[in-house]
This record gives sequence, structure tokens and C-alpha cells, in this order.
Amino acid sequence: MALFKELLGSGESLFKNEDALDLDFVPKLLPYREAQQHHVANCIKPLMQGRNGRNVFICGAPGIGKTAAVRWVLRDLEETTDEVIPIYVNCWQKNTTYKIMMDLCAQLDFKFTQNKNTEELFDVVKNIVNKKTVVFVFDEVDKVEETDFLYAILNDVLRKTVILITNYKSWLENIEDRVKSRLIAEILEFKPYSGEETKEILKQRVGYAFVPGAWDSDAFNAILSHAAESKDIRTGLFLLRESGLCAEEKSSKRILMEHAQSAVEKVTEFSRHNKEDLPDEAKGILSLVSQHSGKKIGDLFDLYKKTDQSMNYKTFQRRIEKLTLGGFVNTEKITDRKGNTTIVSTANAKKLTEF
Ligand SMILES: Nc1ncnc2c1ncn2[C@@H]1O[C@H](COP(=O)(O)OP(=O)(O)OP(=O)(O)O)[C@@H](O)[C@H]1O
Ligand SMILES: [Mg+2]
Repeated sequence: MALFKELLGSGESLFKNEDALDLDFVPKLLPYREAQQHHVANCIKPLMQGRNGRNVFICGAPGIGKTAAVRWVLRDLEETTDEVIPIYVNCWQKNTTYKIMMDLCAQLDFKFTQNKNTEELFDVVKNIVNKKTVVFVFDEVDKVEETDFLYAILNDVLRKTVILITNYKSWLENIEDRVKSRLIAEILEFKPYSGEETKEILKQRVGYAFVPGAWDSDAFNAILSHAAESKDIRTGLFLLRESGLCAEEKSSKRILMEHAQSAVEKVTEFSRHNKEDLPDEAKGILSLVSQHSGKKIGDLFDLYKKTDQSMNYKTFQRRIEKLTLGGFVNTEKITDRKGNTTIVSTANAKKLTEF
């Protein structure tokens, strides 16, 4: 029956390899980041000859290949030599010196961590890595609550390359002096991809992930223009997957404009729905943040108190923390003349796709 020819059979799929749209899928070669990957590799190279490496501070907007580029370099290093130990830590999850030391021990296969304090854990790490050379990558480093781990590594690990990755260039300027003075790092800024580059990257992923001919060209172009506008490959990957899933749900043999459109709607709807679901008090704080994005938390609190005197500062801090976890606002810790403070701003597009 002609009607059913257009529909996918029960065992058929539009996806050839859906995993290729996973956010931690690292393509073998990272197009348009070759120069940055070479730069990082050159900083690591001296370690392969048993000499000290150079440190790198990588910064740039969300979803533009910072993590992917560095992970690819580490993987290549691992395949090339046993002399350099590659270590990757995500500071979003490991945000204290103790958690980082526990993670380092785990990555170095040291299991007897029970009852050991931070200092003892670092002694273990030091003893292992100082027998070889080591690359430490601290990704999302702006999420750490303290920088003692960096101080310890810079001071006591003999031959290393320390790679720090963050969205915020200013993070480096604001770290404690005792760390800053020990951290001589090359700054490597990742610029957003151009429209043409975004197109080629997403086209390549479509080739990995979908069966040939799955995409209608108008539908692909719609996704592309959305991704190019957000300047974030992560958003593009999310939209590709959602469009494919939506087409499959409708048993369509091709991914058409209507499927792309509903994927785009889903991205925008997600944030809107969630905002509406927030309690009134949180909505009030969120609207204050969007009116004064980039202000210090203390200044925001002073403004908030004008409308609600019943809230104390601690509670306000906790509300901001909740909004951060929900992806509605971003916070950045800085140190200014008066000491440590937190800058609060409205969340960027990255958070929309992190679910
Ligand atoms: N040049 C590229 N080619 C193919 N895929 C890419 C490229 N750049 C980024 N990606 C993909 O886009 C997604 C986001 O990239 P990545 O995680 O490296 O972003 P990031 O710059 O680290 O962002 P954030 O600051 O939010 O952590 C990943 O799935 C990554 O594989
Ligand atoms: Mg990253």
C-alpha cells in the first residue's frame, strides 16, 4: 500500500549511529581546531622528553570545542606514549581541593584513600606523578571553590603541563596572588565558529549519525540557522537529535521541516516552561537578575531588599544558587579590592540544552 511506503518499518531507524550526537562524542579529527590542538600539543611535547611542559589557559564561549579539542589531544597522547600521564578533571563536579585529590587518586589507580586527609592524598599523587611527567586538565575551572590544589600542583609537581579551561577570561586575573605568581600560562582564546564552519561541522555529524538521505535540505538549513545564531555547536547537536527523534516518532522516512520546527520549539519551550514553573519568589529574583545582569550578588541583594525586606542575605544566596543549578543564571566568583564576591548574570544558551 503506497501509504505505508512512506512510513518507517518497525525495525527501521533514521539513525545510523545516534551516539555520534552525544555531547561527549569526540570526532577523531576536530575540524577548525587544528591550530589550537597543535598549540596545546606543543606545550605538552617537552614532557615526552622528560622535561617540564608549558601551561595553557584556554578560554572562550560555551559549545565551541574547547573540551573536545583538549580531550582529543589527551587521547592522542595516550596512544603515543606511556611516559606522560594524562589527567582530566571536570571542576563542575570536583569543586574542592579534597574532591580533586580524591579524583586524581582514582585516576592514578590508587585505591587506599580511606581516612586520608587532603594533604595525605596529595602526597600520594605527588609520589606517583613525580616518577613520570603529567598533564593536568582542569576543565570548567571557574567552578572551583578554592585554588589550593593548583598551588600544591604548581609547587610540588616537578614536570607537568597544567591546562585550565573556562568560559571566563577574567578568571585568571582574579585568582589569588600566591597561585597567580606561580602560574605562568600561555593564553589560548577560542573564537566562535563562523556560519560556514558551523555548517561544515554539523554536516559532518549528520554524516556520522544518520542514514544517507535522512535529512530534507530545508529542514537541515533550519537547524543550521538556529545553531549558527546561537554560535553553539551543542545546541546544533541537540536540535539534530531532537529532529530525528521527532521524525521517527511520526514514523517518517525523512526528517522534514515540521520535525525541525518542533525540535526548535522544544528548545525554546523548555526554558519558558521551566521559568513559569518557578515559585513567585524565585521568579522575582530571576527578573531582578535579568534587569541587572553582571552585578555583584551583594548589590543585587540590596536591590531585592527594596521590594522584600523579610529575606536575609543567606537565603538570598541560596536562592541564587538554586537558580544557578536550574540553569537560569550563571555565577562567577571573583576577587576584587574588597575580597571575594560573586557576579550573577542571566544564563546563556548552553544551559538550555543541558538536560
Ligand atoms: N570543530 C568541531 N567539530 C565537531 N564537533 C565539534 C566541534 N567543536 C565542537 N564540537 C562538538 O560540540 C559540542 C560542544 O563542544 P565542547 O564540549 O568542546 O564545548 P566547550 O567549548 O567545551 O563548551 P563549554 O564552555 O560549554 O564547556 C561537543 O559535542 C563537541 O564534540
Ligand atoms: Mg567544555
